[in-house]
Amino acid sequence: MTGGTPASALTEQDAVAELARLAREIADADAAYYQNDAPSLTDAEYDALRLRNAEIEARFPHLKREDSPSLKVGAEAGDGFAKARHGIPMLSLENAFADDDVADFAARIRRFLALPTETELACTAEPKIDGLSLSLTYEKGRLVRAATRGDGQTGEDVTANAKTLSDIPAKLAGKGWPDSIEVRGEVYMAKDDFAALNVREGAAERKVFANPRNAAAGSLRQLDVEITKSRPLRFFAYAWGAVSAPFSDTQSGAVELLGKWGFVTNPLMVRVLTVEEILAYYRDIEARRAGLPYDIDGVVYKVDRLDWQQRLGFVSRAPRWAIAHKFQAEKATTTLLGIDVQVGRTGSLTPVARLEPVTVGGVMVSNATLHNEDEIARLGVKPGDVVEIQRAGDVIPQVLRVVKAGKGPAWTMPDVCPACGSAAVREMDEAGEMDVRRRCSGGLICPAQAVERLKHFVSRKALDIDGLGARQIELFFEKGVVHAPQDIFRLRKNIEAAGLPPLEEWDGFGAASAKKLYAAIDARRTPEFARFLNGLGIRHVGQTTSGQFARGFLSWQAFWYAVQRAAEGGPGSEGYQDLTGIDGIGDAAARALVQFEAEPHNREMLEALLSEVEVADEAPAATDSPVAGKTVVFTGTLERMTRDEAKARASALGAKVAGSVSAKTDILVAGPGAGSKLAKAESLGVRTMTEAEWLALIGEA
Ligand code: IVH
Repeated sequence: MTGGTPASALTEQDAVAELARLAREIADADAAYYQNDAPSLTDAEYDALRLRNAEIEARFPHLKREDSPSLKVGAEAGDGFAKARHGIPMLSLENAFADDDVADFAARIRRFLALPTETELACTAEPKIDGLSLSLTYEKGRLVRAATRGDGQTGEDVTANAKTLSDIPAKLAGKGWPDSIEVRGEVYMAKDDFAALNVREGAAERKVFANPRNAAAGSLRQLDVEITKSRPLRFFAYAWGAVSAPFSDTQSGAVELLGKWGFVTNPLMVRVLTVEEILAYYRDIEARRAGLPYDIDGVVYKVDRLDWQQRLGFVSRAPRWAIAHKFQAEKATTTLLGIDVQVGRTGSLTPVARLEPVTVGGVMVSNATLHNEDEIARLGVKPGDVVEIQRAGDVIPQVLRVVKAGKGPAWTMPDVCPACGSAAVREMDEAGEMDVRRRCSGGLICPAQAVERLKHFVSRKALDIDGLGARQIELFFEKGVVHAPQDIFRLRKNIEAAGLPPLEEWDGFGAASAKKLYAAIDARRTPEFARFLNGLGIRHVGQTTSGQFARGFLSWQAFWYAVQRAAEGGPGSEGYQDLTGIDGIGDAAARALVQFEAEPHNREMLEALLSEVEVADEAPAATDSPVAGKTVVFTGTLERMTRDEAKARASALGAKVAGSVSAKTDILVAGPGAGSKLAKAESLGVRTMTEAEWLALIGEA
């Protein structure tokens, strides 16, 4: 199975081909072993493949692939850790790239909090460590649990592993810590330690790591704790999650306390007062970046006052009170070999550059996105050109510019779908603007779209069906047993009806994995509202929007009834207003839902799907709040806070914030200058109140 030529005698061309083959074979073997519980190779065969891959990579380090098996360390251990739900979700940060983005950040906060210009907006500034975040729960001062970030809500329980880090105290020092606290920070590996580890691993003919971050992640997520213990991992504490009692008034004060309780905190953290000071700090750290003992990928700013952090709250997955100011992305130059066209689940065609493999920031890149045909025209790029590409963090690499034009002919986007041959067209949107994307018009007949939609439906952010990934979907689709989402729940019947042998007898399945897959599918027969809606893959109705609808409507029936009425009544109808009245929902989402509902085949699909599953109701947020589930409208001038803050606060308390008054409105909060909305509310008999009465109602007077 492994190539016959010794690695030392391979040509570079052969090495490229063999690394590709090895990546594929090892991934297949991993899937058979981990996802299907049905090993396709003996241990010795498997080890031989990995060893061969390591040998070739050692000889041609620059050929290491993005998907190299040597980079996928510990990822396969995913199933082995218990799940751990975070007390408070672990969020991500919004990114700033330009100085202006930082100025906007400060201005946005000032506007939200209505800070007068003379009021200082103090922030902390600190390096953004390129590692992996970890949440440590301490009960009565003792470390009881360590969890990785995971999807933000639920991570993996790596308590035993975390206990091996000397930077993580098993018991809190000092005094004054809350009885219960989630301490958060970054696990990382210092550059020197990383280099030494790779020398050791290489000498032992084991896989080497692409960069310190991968090494840190791979070392922490080891089922064998002894391996973690042998790895030089470090930890900086910089934040916290759920706490039983507040312990500081400021971010800087809180971090100082974390230091007193025994954590290592970043000595480069400072407190800054103006945007100019922030930017000066950024440039200073950027200049020192290469000399720091650990990798960083930017600087993080956080509002220092915790009462302001509280008021600012969150937007979808990131706090309004913090931002990451990223450093310039890493760039490289290479030859563009060809342009492939991929078909997405909404039929959009994406041109993807196939590249002569090149390392960018320690990772081998062989593909980069070209976004759309306008981008290709703008860049003037064609196969054969030498191009500059960039890769920033985990985002897909992109082509930046042509460095040297080749001799080849210009490239044109196909006007038929490469998967189904239907016309691929660019549409005009409502505002008369040409869509930048060309879309396959094949709709349901396009196999590429159907498969991508199914993959999306079962993906982690949607129904999250264990063991049902891209490869299985492709297989079931190809065998004709899964065409549409409902077929997943009829898999056993469909296999039987197709006259195929039971799944237990399929290659790569086996009794155990078939049983596991059916159980995983059954476990999703009562999907969460937001996941279910996101899974339908309706344009403009993604994860965030689906969550907003779920929190706004709570029950699927109520939501879909509004969609149906919106489809009947059109824009402006009450049903339509019920949709757009949800905070954060705009016309695009409402229109897309109406269009979806108007298609008979979508209605049929949904009906069939709902005969298989029952969408669970969303639990109302903050049920103890007197305004939970109430529809609230704000009008007129507010005096104690800005309109944005009032709306954000109301949503956080579980209220539904609407923009216009209707018979559905429960409360109208009217400040001075209120006009037509107040009149309408009064005519409809809606309860109206002043800002002071509202604050009294929510207990914040
Ligand atoms: S604060 C609610 N501070 O960056 C804000 N994050 O892009 C919580 N990170 O998931 C994060 N250094 O893993 C914060 N000094 C720092 C950080 C930092 C690295 C990571 C962290 C987070 C990610 C967001």
